[in-house]
Amino acid sequence: MVVKRSAPGKVILCGEHSVVYGRPAVAVPVSALRAYAEVKAGASNQGLIIHAVDLDQTVTLRESSKNHPLIKTAQAVLTHLNLSEPDATITLKSNLPIASGMGSGAAVTVAIARALSAYLGSELPEETISAMTYEIEKIHHGTPSGIDNTVITWEKPVYFIKEQPPEIFDIQQPFHLLIANSGIPSSTREAVNEVRRQWASAPEFYNLVFDCMGAIARAARVATEKGGDQVLGTLLNENHKLLTKIGVSLPELDQLIYAALEAGALGAKLTGSGQGGNIIALVEPETRTRVQHALLEAGAIKIWHTQVGGRDE
Ligand code: MEV
Repeated sequence: MVVKRSAPGKVILCGEHSVVYGRPAVAVPVSALRAYAEVKAGASNQGLIIHAVDLDQTVTLRESSKNHPLIKTAQAVLTHLNLSEPDATITLKSNLPIASGMGSGAAVTVAIARALSAYLGSELPEETISAMTYEIEKIHHGTPSGIDNTVITWEKPVYFIKEQPPEIFDIQQPFHLLIANSGIPSSTREAVNEVRRQWASAPEFYNLVFDCMGAIARAARVATEKGGDQVLGTLLNENHKLLTKIGVSLPELDQLIYAALEAGALGAKLTGSGQGGNIIALVEPETRTRVQHALLEAGAIKIWHTQVGGRDE
C-alpha cells in the first residue's frame, strides 16, 4: 500500500511580525509550490524510516534524536492515534524554497502528518494537523504566531489573529502575485528574536508600528477579498515601509521592491520574516512579464507566479 499527501507553501500578504504581538495578518496559500509525503510498507522489523530526498537525509524513529522535527512529527501522529511504530518508509519531496518565508517547514510537517495518519487508517482532521504543526513549528522558530500552520493546513486565504479561531475567506476576483527570491537565507527564529529584542528596548515605538501594521492588515483583508487592486497594492507598499522601520528589510530586498514598482507592479513588500528570503509583487496580466524581467535584473535568483483565488497555475 502506498499513501501520498501534500501541503502547499504560503505567503503573508500583510502583518508578519506584528502578528506575533497579537495584531491581525492576512496570508494566502501558494498551491503550485508544495511538500509531498509518500508512505509505503517497509521490510519486516525495519521500523519507521523517513527519507528527505531534497536534504539527502534519512532519519529513523529508533535511532535518530527524539527532538528532530521529522521524528517529532511522526511520533506525534503515533501518540495521537495510540499506535506503535509501523514498518514503513516515508519519502519526502518538496519544490518549496527553504529559509525564504514560504513555510516549507510547516508544509513538510502537514504533509507527513496527513500521509502517515492516512496510511495508518485514520487521517487526522485539519484542527489536529494544524495544532500538531504549531507544536513542531516551535522547534524551528521558538515563538510562532500560528499563522503558517493555519494557512498551510487549510490551504485557503486566512485572516489570522493569534490565539483566535482563524477566519477563512474567499476571493471574489482572482489576482496575480510574483514571488521573487533574493537568494539570501532568512531565519524566522533569528528575525523574530531580533524584533523582540528591539521591541523590549523601545516598546512604545514598536507597539505603535505594530498597531499601524494591524490597521493595514484589516484593510488588506477587505481589499484581498475584493480581488487585489490598487488599494491592496498601496497597503503592501505601506506595510513594507513599516517593516523597514523595524529593521527586517535589507538593501537587497528594497532593491527588488523598487525594481518591481518601477516596472509597474501595483505594490510590493517583503514577505515572511525578512532579513532575506522573498518579496511579493502584485501585478496585472499586462505588467507581469515586465516586472518579472525587472526583478531578475535587480538580482532575484528565482521567480514564481501565483494566482490568488480561483485555480492556481
Ligand atoms: C513567519 O512566516 C511570520 C512571522 O510573523 C513569524 C510568525 O508569525 O510566527 C515573522
